[in-house]
Amino acid sequence: MNIILLGPPGAGKGTQARRLVEERNLAQLSTGDMLRAARTSGTELGKMVAGVMDRGELVTDEIVIGLIREQLTNDDGANGYIFDGFPRTLAQADALGNLLAELGEKLDRVILMEVDDEALVARITARSTCANCGEVYNDQTKPIPSDGVCSNCGEKAEFTRRADDNEESLKTRLLAYYKQTSPLVGYYYAKGDLSTVDGLQSMDDVAASIKVALP
Ligand code: AP5
Ligand code: MG
Repeated sequence: MNIILLGPPGAGKGTQARRLVEERNLAQLSTGDMLRAARTSGTELGKMVAGVMDRGELVTDEIVIGLIREQLTNDDGANGYIFDGFPRTLAQADALGNLLAELGEKLDRVILMEVDDEALVARITARSTCANCGEVYNDQTKPIPSDGVCSNCGEKAEFTRRADDNEESLKTRLLAYYKQTSPLVGYYYAKGDLSTVDGLQSMDDVAASIKVALP
C-alpha cells in the first residue's frame, strides 16, 4: 500500500507516519528527514539546501524527486510507502505518479490532515525530537520524559529543536504550503484519491480516522 500524508507544517504527518510504520510495516519516506540527514552528515547536498530549509522555503523539485527516485528504485522489500512531506508541488506529484507507474505500483490513498494555523504555530514552537531515534515530542501534548529517557528507543538521549521551528521561518513555510502545496488538494480530489481527516483531534483519534480512510 502506498499513501501520501498531506498537510501543512506541524499537521502531524511525521507523528502519524511513524505509527503507520509500526502498524502496517510500511516504510516512511520523509523528504524533510532525508534533507536533514544530509545536513547532519555534511554532504554537498546538505550544504546546498541548508539556507533554503532554515528560511522555510522549498528545496528544488529536482533535488527532492531525485531523493525519492533513489529510495523507490532501491526497493528494500517494504510492504509499501508512506510519503511524508512529499509531494509538495504539482511537478512533484506528477513525478511521483510516473515513478510509481514505472515500478508497476499505484497510489492507494492521499490523507489530507487539516489543522488551523493557530494550532500549527503552537505545535511547532513546542516540538522537540529524540536525536537518537527521531521520536517526536511536544512540550504540551507529549512532553519529554522527566528522566530524559526516550519512550521509543529507551536511550538517554538528547532532544533537539529544529532550526526552522521559529516564528519567522514558520511564516514562510505556511506561505509555501498555501501557495505551492495546497493545489495538490484539488489535484488528488479530482483523481478520487483524497480523504480528509481532522488533524486537531488527539493523536490517537487522528490515527483512528486515518485507519478508517485507508483501504
Ligand atoms: P518537513 O520536515 O517535511 O517539515 P514540514 O512539512 O514543515 O512539516 P513538519 O515536519 O514541521 O510537521 P509534521 O506534519 O511532520 O508534524 P509533526 O508530526 O512533527 O520539511 C522541512 C523543510 O524541508 C521544508 O521547509 C523544505 O525546505 C524542505 N522540504 C522537505 N520536503 C520537501 C519537498 N517535498 N519539496 C521541497 N522542499 C522540501 O508534529 C508537530 C508537533 O505537533 C509535534 O510536537 C507533535 O508531537 C505535535 N502533534 C502531532 N500530532 C498532534 C495532535 N494530534 N495533537 C497535538 N499535538 C500533535
Ligand atoms: Mg515532519
